[in-house]
Amino acid sequence: MLDAGCGHGRVTIELARRGYDVVGLDIDDSMLDVARRTAPDLRWVRADLAQLDTRALGLGGGFDLVVAAGNVIPLLAPGTEPVVLANLASCLRARGLLVAGFGLDPSHLPLAEAPVTLADYDAWCSAAGTALERRYATWQGAPYAHGVYAVSVHVLGKK
Ligand SMILES: C[S@@+](CC[C@H](N)C(=O)[O-])C[C@H]1O[C@@H](n2cnc3c(N)ncnc32)[C@H](O)[C@@H]1O
Repeated sequence: MLDAGCGHGRVTIELARRGYDVVGLDIDDSMLDVARRTAPDLRWVRADLAQLDTRALGLGGGFDLVVAAGNVIPLLAPGTEPVVLANLASCLRARGLLVAGFGLDPSHLPLAEAPVTLADYDAWCSAAGTALERRYATWQGAPYAHGVYAVSVHVLGKK
């Protein structure tokens, strides 16, 4: 698995604890420094999701799952979202899953306005060759009912 925008490694470390083979990737060295200190045995990579080349980074030929938790998508540099989604999809194996959770209004974001709607996100994912498989209101799997936070699961190669 790839934890895209791993920050301090909160999700990476928990996935590894549960037995998954996971790599944490972030653009911010100071975030990665904390992750490396907390879990020195895990794999941490500094890279920009907008210029992602997993083969050049030595990350192999494809992930079963890419996760972007904790508002990574709305915090991307504005305008880079389509290329980031294309890059994330391109490092999935066939039928691999792209899982992202983010806020849809300021109460769930460290921003004054929500920059990304679900329609935006689904369009970027669709252009990247993935299709919406499931959508939840929480990471615990509560059904999504047009609330202000969504966890979306897209699958590569299914129209
Ligand atoms: C709010 S934090 C979420 C951290 C982690 N996913 C979590 O849930 O605890 C968002 C992270 O996305 C990273 N990020 C933003 N833009 C990025 C980019 N273009 N490439 C890689 N990481 C990026 C930031 O550096 C930051 O660590």
